[in-house]
Amino acid sequence: MEADEKYLWWQSGVIYQIYPRSFQDSNGDGVGDLTGIRQRLDYLQWLGVDAVWISPIYPSPMADFGYDISDYTGIYPLFGSMADFDALLQEVHERGMKMILDLVPNHTSDLHPWFLESRSSKDNPKRDWYIWQDPTPDGSAPNNWLSVFGGSGWEWDEKTGQYYYHAFLKEQPDLNWRNPEVQQAMLDAMRFWLDKGVDGFRVDVMWHMIKDDQLRDNPPNPEYKQSMATYEKLIPAFSTDQPEVHDVVVKMRQLVDEYDERVIIGEIYLPIHRLVTYYGTDNNGAHLPFNFMLINMPWDARQIAAAVDEYEGALPDGGWPNWVLGNHDKPRIASRIGKSQARVAAMLLLTLRGTPTLYYGDEIGMTDVAIPPDEIQDPQGLNMPGLNLSRDPARTPMQWNDSENAGFTDGKPWLRLPHTYSRVNVEKEKQDPFSMLTLHRRLLELRKQEPALSTGSYVPMSADGNVLAYRREHEDTKLLIVLNLGHTTCYYEPEKLHLEGEVILATIPEREGMQVDTILSLQGDEGLVIRLRN
Ligand code: GLC
Repeated sequence: MEADEKYLWWQSGVIYQIYPRSFQDSNGDGVGDLTGIRQRLDYLQWLGVDAVWISPIYPSPMADFGYDISDYTGIYPLFGSMADFDALLQEVHERGMKMILDLVPNHTSDLHPWFLESRSSKDNPKRDWYIWQDPTPDGSAPNNWLSVFGGSGWEWDEKTGQYYYHAFLKEQPDLNWRNPEVQQAMLDAMRFWLDKGVDGFRVDVMWHMIKDDQLRDNPPNPEYKQSMATYEKLIPAFSTDQPEVHDVVVKMRQLVDEYDERVIIGEIYLPIHRLVTYYGTDNNGAHLPFNFMLINMPWDARQIAAAVDEYEGALPDGGWPNWVLGNHDKPRIASRIGKSQARVAAMLLLTLRGTPTLYYGDEIGMTDVAIPPDEIQDPQGLNMPGLNLSRDPARTPMQWNDSENAGFTDGKPWLRLPHTYSRVNVEKEKQDPFSMLTLHRRLLELRKQEPALSTGSYVPMSADGNVLAYRREHEDTKLLIVLNLGHTTCYYEPEKLHLEGEVILATIPEREGMQVDTILSLQGDEGLVIRLRN
C-alpha cells in the first residue's frame, strides 16, 4: 500500500542531506562534485529516500565552504558545470526523486559583485543593499552585536568610514532585506532555479534575515559560561527573529506557490513556540521550519516525550511536522549518543510523525572524525580555537567501501577519513543483515509501506524511566513503537492497554516475529515496532 495520495511528497517522503564536498569525487581533486552525486543515485534509490537536499553548490570563495556565495545563479567550478547540474537534476527526476537546493539569502560573499559595488562608495546605488552604519562618536562599532563565528559582528571599512554588519564571517556581509531591490534580486535568483525544475529550497538562517530597525543593543545572556562560543554572551533579541521577517518569508512562499508542489524549508534555531510562527499566518510561511529539537536536547526519554507533545500541540492547523537528527553544523548522532543508541535514534527519526531529514553517512553509523589541529578547515573552529567548535569532524568523506579513501576519491581527500572506514562502509554494511545501513533501509521501506508511519496520527503513550513509547495509526492499522533510550534493560507495561501484537521491526533483528503481550522486556539500546492486534 502506498502512502495516501492526498499528501504531498515533502510530507510523506524522506529527505537526505548531501554535503557536496564530501559525498563523491569523480575527478580525483579530493573534493566531491555533482557528477559524483550522479554516480551515487543508484545508492540513494536503493536506500529509499525521496528527496536530496544539497548544501550550496554556487560559485564561492569558500570562506565558509559555500555559505559565502558570489553568484546565486552559477555553479562552483570544482563542483562541475551548469551542464553537470542539469544532468543531475534530470536524473534525480527520472528516478522519481526530488532535489532541494540550499539558498543563502541572509548574506553574500564579500566578493559578490553586489558587495564590491556597495563598498565602493557611500553613494553607490547598492550601498543600501547591505547594513552600513556610522561609528559611534568614539569610533567604536554601532552596537554590541556579535558574530556567530566569534568577535564583533561589525567590520570597519577604512575607505568609506563606516562599519558593515556580518552575522557570520566578515567575508559574509549581511544583506539589507528591508530594501525591496534586495528582495527582488533574491526572488529572481530563486525563480532561475525554480524554472529549471528544482523542487524547493532549504533557506539558510531564515530567522536572521531581518534585524531591529533601530539596531538596539542585545541584552547579556545570564547563562553564558567561558566554555561557550563567544556569540552566546548575548541574547540575540534584536539581531534575529524580528516580526518583519515573516513578510519576507511570505514573499518567498508566494513565489514557490506559482509552481507545482515546491517546498520551502527554513533553517531556524529557536524554541518551539517561536519556531512554529515560521509556518506563517494560515500556513502562508515556510512549509517546513526545521525542527532541531532532537539535536539540541538531552537524550532523555521523559524530556523528549514532553518536547514531542509540546511540538505536536504547538503546530498550527495544517502545519506539517518534521524531524532532524544531524546536519553539517552539529556533531554526528552516533558520536553524541553512541553507536548502539544511534540505532534507536534512527527508529525514532523514521517513526515519528513528520518529514525526516537524514544526514549523509548517519545511515551507516559514521562518527565524528578527529581532525588534528593543523588540518582544521572550518572557520568556526579556526576562529575560536580551544573550544572544540570545528564542524569538520561531521563533514568527512562518505565511506563507500574499503578501498583507499573509502572509494570517495582517487586523490587526496580534502578532509581525512577515520581509520575504521574499512569496516564502516556502504559496501560492507549492505551485506550485513545486522548493520546500521540495513536497519535504515528497512525502516525506510516500512515507512513507505505503512501510511500509519508516513502520514498517520501520533498517539503519545508514555515515557517512563528510559522508555519512550507511542502509537502511529492509520485506519485499522495500529503500530506501537517502544524505544529504550538507556543502555540497560528495562520493562514496559502500559497501563490500560492490553498489549497484543507482533514485533515487525527491531533494532535487534532476532526479535522480529515475536508475539508480545502484557509486559515487554527490553534490552539496553533496543527499539521495537509492534503491529498491534487490538
Ligand atoms: C547555516 C549553515 C552553516 C553556515 C551558516 C552561515 O547555519 O548551516 O553551515 O556556516 O549558516 O551561512
